[in-house]
Amino acid sequence: MGTKRHFRVWRGDEAGGEIQDYDVEVNDGEVVLDIIHRIQATQAPDLACRWNCKAGKCGSCSMEINGMPRLGCMTRMSTFEETETVTITPLRTFPVIRDLVTDVTFNYQKARETPSFAPPAGVAPGQYRMKQIDVERSQEFRKCIECFLCQNTCHVVRDHEENKKAFSGPRYFIRAAELDMHPLDARDDRKDYAQDSQGMGYCNITKCCTEVCPEHIKITDNAIIPMKERVVDNRFDPLVWLGRKILRRDQLSDQPAHASAQATGYSTGQSMAPSTSTGVTGVAAGTPFSSARPPEAPPVRDDGRMDVAELALPHQGGPSPFGDQEFPLAPGHLVYNHPAPGKDEDEPEAEPEEKRH
Ligand code: SF4
Ligand code: SF4
Ligand code: FES
Repeated sequence: MGTKRHFRVWRGDEAGGEIQDYDVEVNDGEVVLDIIHRIQATQAPDLACRWNCKAGKCGSCSMEINGMPRLGCMTRMSTFEETETVTITPLRTFPVIRDLVTDVTFNYQKARETPSFAPPAGVAPGQYRMKQIDVERSQEFRKCIECFLCQNTCHVVRDHEENKKAFSGPRYFIRAAELDMHPLDARDDRKDYAQDSQGMGYCNITKCCTEVCPEHIKITDNAIIPMKERVVDNRFDPLVWLGRKILRRDQLSDQPAHASAQATGYSTGQSMAPSTSTGVTGVAAGTPFSSARPPEAPPVRDDGRMDVAELALPHQGGPSPFGDQEFPLAPGHLVYNHPAPGKDEDEPEAEPEEKRH
């Protein structure tokens, strides 16, 4: 047997609206979306609400419940005191279409603006390979159900409509981070794009987006903060700064990231962390470490100067002065003999055992 509880639901459209009161029966195990359906069934058949899965997976039923951005289908009524009034309002950051349904076009525009995955040059579709550890690193961000609760809660746009043009929001920062750590993504400007075009500088890491994410994605800790740190590394690292001074602009940016990484074994726009996938990025993609490779000096430009990036490259050493050795060494190769007990150090060394026989 259920109990009657008091609900307040915002009703209206883009022209305006108001909160309306409803007393509705609540049964054990129900969620807020059940109550909205009961209001539709018994008192307000024209109450508009968006939903699809009722399982926390489609991201449609986003709303504000007692001022907190939440999924209606994942908010249990047992969360509230029996006497508590539950107030349900539409997402505040986006324009209302009707009642609890908002126009989330902003998010789709930002999604379109975000550069998509750039396939690596010279690798045919079907030949892409990643290590499981690289898959797992970005898996957290791929759990996003696009509920836009994080977008709604971010103060940068929640109270500042004027910021929307320049700010993509936390949902798209995790997209940028995911692509930045993707070992096959050929673009090396994900961080700069996030900073310069997605407005990551507006974010002051309040972590509100992380708090409301129903998928428990650590948006701030695992995406935004590492990206911000790497933007700083990229721009203020003294070696990179020196590289920018010495290298010509076309040397820094003209080559696609993947090609340049393959050619030099070093990418100035490093990914969030070095990839562990073999043969894909950075050193793993380029310079082979084998004795078959002849020793070489760093290349020198026409003006006689060496690229500063060469300082960071893992060059092979020159040839061994003892000649090439095969390992393990052949038996009998070693000629060392222990000195005989009590022998004077000045006495001539005993002949190696192999020569005595
Ligand atoms: S951490 Fe940044 S993106 Fe997330 S809500 Fe705060 S300001 Fe917005
Ligand atoms: S990151 Fe979380 S809160 Fe933001 S849209 Fe994705 S699932 Fe929703
Ligand atoms: S109805 Fe799909 S997430 Fe709530």
